[in-house]
Amino acid sequence: LNLFFFFIRFVHMNLIVWINLTVHAVIPVPAGSHVRLNLQTGEREAKLPDSIQETTGLNRKKVTAKDSNSFSAQELKEALKKLKEEAISLADEVKTFSFYFHCLIQLCRPSQSDLEDLSAMMETDFQVMTRLVQQFNNSQASLEEKVTALLDLEYLVHQVDNAQDLISLGGLQLIINTLNSSEPILQEHAAFVLGSAVSSNPRVQVEAMEGGALQKLLLLLGTDQPLPVKKKALFALASLLRHFPFAQQHFLKLGGLQVLTALFRSRGSESLRVRVVTLLYDMIIEKSGLDAVPDASHEERLRQYSQVALLPLLSEQGWCNLVPELLASPEHDMREKALRSILVIMTPCRDFYRQDSGLASFLTSIQEQYTALAESEREHGEDDGYFGELLALVESVLGKLR
Ligand SMILES: *[C@@H]1O[C@H](CO)[C@@H](O)[C@H](O)[C@H]1NC(C)=O
Ligand SMILES: *[C@@H]1O[C@H](CO)[C@@H](O)[C@H](O)[C@H]1NC(C)=O
Repeated sequence: LNLFFFFIRFVHMNLIVWINLTVHAVIPVPAGSHVRLNLQTGEREAKLPDSIQETTGLNRKKVTAKDSNSFSAQELKEALKKLKEEAISLADEVKTFSFYFHCLIQLCRPSQSDLEDLSAMMETDFQVMTRLVQQFNNSQASLEEKVTALLDLEYLVHQVDNAQDLISLGGLQLIINTLNSSEPILQEHAAFVLGSAVSSNPRVQVEAMEGGALQKLLLLLGTDQPLPVKKKALFALASLLRHFPFAQQHFLKLGGLQVLTALFRSRGSESLRVRVVTLLYDMIIEKSGLDAVPDASHEERLRQYSQVALLPLLSEQGWCNLVPELLASPEHDMREKALRSILVIMTPCRDFYRQDSGLASFLTSIQEQYTALAESEREHGEDDGYFGELLALVESVLGKLR
């Protein structure tokens, strides 16, 4: 123990030096804390259990780091300082220090016993979720407390097991029921939790369908709602339909395509247009990309997908006309999505596009623009750059119109 306290003092005295030495070291997030990949930023985020957060002041926003799940040197320093300041019990202090200290010396390979000590101090995900579901379902809870519970649940359900536990806790049905709450802020966050829970999680997708999620989401998207509610409802719908032909079939039967068509056309939801097109594009591509990885349920999926006749419906409902509207955007990634989508709906729309002289001349003008951009890209040594790719897409569409 003496040696250990010497180390601690050593750490304190030489903190700056140590921190400098460990700037590039990766401090792993303690086992039992929640780590997820933020798909929007590509960053890993970690959320420490509340008990550790309170003691150290580290929270999930602060531990976000660019390319590793590490704490920054500054954060670590502050956390150590705070630990010292707060008179937490000696045993806890030793445990926590020992963990961080192991990290410092061994470039972050905490010993098994450190991890065991730490996890004994933590609540399991299941316990946290039980508490959050209760908090959310508590009629005495304020709106703010409910929203907080939903945000924390959203964080947890990215893990497949947690999302399945949400079902057994009765939380999933509570969330689905909240989609038609009279509080828009609860509707929005409930849709967010739902979307994250069903993402890449077939068991939860099935359960959500049975719980009536699809109808409720379509109702939100088809009626007058605040934009943030629609945005999250669209996210949940896309996650529910993804790789789930059974839900896609019902989506079409329930008039889901009409709902999305109206949403695309409606004023005030322009920012959702590219998301709507992406959802439809993904459905088409997913179906045609089926043969890539045949597995045991391949035949059954083929049969289910064969009932999802999206392409003819798209042209019937005016999408040949709607998709090129995205091209008018000055943003390249929006145009890219439009060009790719035009290519996938080319079969039913070709006659329509051939008669549209405006489309061809617009494509010719952006062809010139991308030729110049691709050229300068090549001059900078990028042979297969982004603009080259866009140029190839434009030319491919033009080729199909001739
Ligand atoms: C929510 O609260 C109601 C009423 O108190 C209760 O009947 C129900 O079982 C609770 N649901 C969950 C999932 O905890
Ligand atoms: C939400 O829908 C359910 C069933 O569709 C209904 O029982 C409930 O009253 C609705 N809640 C609100 C606030 O409209």
